[in-house]
Amino acid sequence: MEAHLLEWVNLAIRWLHIIAGIAWIGSSFFFMWLDSHLEPGETPKEDIEGELWMVHSGGFYQVEKFKVAPTKMPKTLHWFKWEAAVTWISGISLLLVAFYLTGRGVFLIDGSSPVSAPIAMGIGIATLVVGWLVYDGIYRSPLGKTGNLAAAISFVLLVVAAYFLSEIFSGRAAYIHVGALMGTIMAFNVWAVIIPSQQNLVNATLAGKPRDLSMGPKAKQRSVHNNYMTLPVIFIMVSGHYPSTFGHEMNWLVLIGLAIVGATTRHYFNLRNAGAGFKGWTWGVSVAGMAALIVYTAPAMLQGEADDAPRVTYAQIQPIVAERCTVCHSATPTQAGFSVAPLGVVFDQPQDIQAMADRIKVLSVTTQAMPLGNLTSMTEEERRLVGNWIDAGAKIEQ
Ligand code: HEC
Repeated sequence: MEAHLLEWVNLAIRWLHIIAGIAWIGSSFFFMWLDSHLEPGETPKEDIEGELWMVHSGGFYQVEKFKVAPTKMPKTLHWFKWEAAVTWISGISLLLVAFYLTGRGVFLIDGSSPVSAPIAMGIGIATLVVGWLVYDGIYRSPLGKTGNLAAAISFVLLVVAAYFLSEIFSGRAAYIHVGALMGTIMAFNVWAVIIPSQQNLVNATLAGKPRDLSMGPKAKQRSVHNNYMTLPVIFIMVSGHYPSTFGHEMNWLVLIGLAIVGATTRHYFNLRNAGAGFKGWTWGVSVAGMAALIVYTAPAMLQGEADDAPRVTYAQIQPIVAERCTVCHSATPTQAGFSVAPLGVVFDQPQDIQAMADRIKVLSVTTQAMPLGNLTSMTEEERRLVGNWIDAGAKIEQ
């Protein structure tokens, strides 16, 4: 019953998290697009930086951006801050439900983790708190004004965090914690720096005083950071579907590679929006980076696996699957914390196993993403046998 309830809580929070995330990232992309498409109006006005026209869902819209601020505050002023807060709160709740509460730690750590699940949870939470304090500290200090040096230091710290987390957690949980760290930095950038700067602007306008000019550049810097983190974070949030990333031996390096690909892709759009035209090198880096990752994570087959392996029969692999997988992947799972087969994947019948052969190969042979956390202690020899059976065509009949 508890597992069943947790599944529904997980569903509801994940749903909310995705919706809030779409609203947040969507509005931030939209405003960047707006900023980069402003034009001088037909009759340019003194205090207007630019304007643009749009047509959408049956109506025309006209937007004007002020150079500084309107002389009089409008009655209603729309802010965009709750999207970030709801995304973060739902994200942290999802981390708690999906990784800390569900499955008694099987999603959090695996056989090679040096710590127990409760300690791993403590490390996970501490990473978010310390990570934000260090990041914020760097950019509030004089170092933060150095631009490239501060960026290089932050990047190195991110690499260190990814490596450290991959040593503590299972691959999936390590990825999610890196994502949660970046998401935390993004949300706090909004609430601790960007919104106060906007508040200052609004207060100054209301009081008819000049605004504090030092706040604008700081807010701008954080918003640039958020911009570059968007694509890497979104990849991390869907990474659970791609075991060749988090299940790789050097999963932290793969993650950093994907983060770079995401950031250079974002950079391309930023340059384009800034009117720099087509900058081929950004695509070059992204495509070459993606290709390098495909090759780097490729299964042994592409790297010259021997094809004279002995022929393995279904009768040899059936007991392995029964022992190592069906505690969870069965119509009636026996593993504590599992009320239904995960993702509906069952291996009760020979045909079930045959139908999933390709995924089984990826998850249990090429990578070691399954059995989850290697809870059922599947051996290397068993993985090799299952792999050989699949390579030979995954035949059931002898
Ligand atoms: C401790 C429980 C557990 C055990 C044991 C286990 N799995 Fe899984 N499996 C899961 C969970 C949980 C998921 C869902 C992961 C997700 O949400 O993406 C899953 C998902 C899968 C999927 C579908 C995901 C995809 O990406 O295609 C396959 C296939 C799979 N497991 C194969 C196996 C195989 C093969 C074994 C045995 C060698 C095994 N599992 C053992 C818990 C387990």
